[in-house]
Amino acid sequence: MANLEKTLVLIKPDAFSKHYSGDIIKIYEKEGFRIVAMKLLKMDERLASIHYAEHIGRPYYEDLVGFMTSAPIIAMVLEGEDAIARVRTLNGKTNPVEAAEGTIRKLYASSGSRNAVHASDSPENAEREIHIFFNETEILDGKYQPKA
Ligand code: CDP
Ligand code: MG
Repeated sequence: MANLEKTLVLIKPDAFSKHYSGDIIKIYEKEGFRIVAMKLLKMDERLASIHYAEHIGRPYYEDLVGFMTSAPIIAMVLEGEDAIARVRTLNGKTNPVEAAEGTIRKLYASSGSRNAVHASDSPENAEREIHIFFNETEILDGKYQPKA
């Protein structure tokens, strides 16, 4: 693979609560991405402030933290060719009104804040965000056995 990447994906509280998780994961799997780490957790304010550090102080920040801590989320690491950009394309634009047909946000997001999924936006942020949620022993990339 020319550019094998890992990226952090979160299935946000809105999508998790509406039972869209399986449909969303299916979209990533159909595109050929491998799940190399996954967990169910509930964010607290501290974790949200680390993950969304660049948004602290913005007008929507308090609402964002309230939303992200409101119900469980699924965190996962996806691996694949050009995963960072391709997963963001599958997710679609931040606001579902602007998101392309067939994207996860178009299908499952209800607003620009409650928008179903998160994905890392750069190699630097992918590396940073993956290690907020997972330690090395929880990332099974080297141990992946494709189905025979
Ligand atoms: O998630 P994405 O990278 O597409 O967007 P962002 O601009 O990095 O914003 C992070 C998240 O903050 C969004 O996904 C929204 O959940 C939330 N947000 C919001 O509620 N209102 C805004 N005006 C901008 C972002
Ligand atoms: Mg972002």
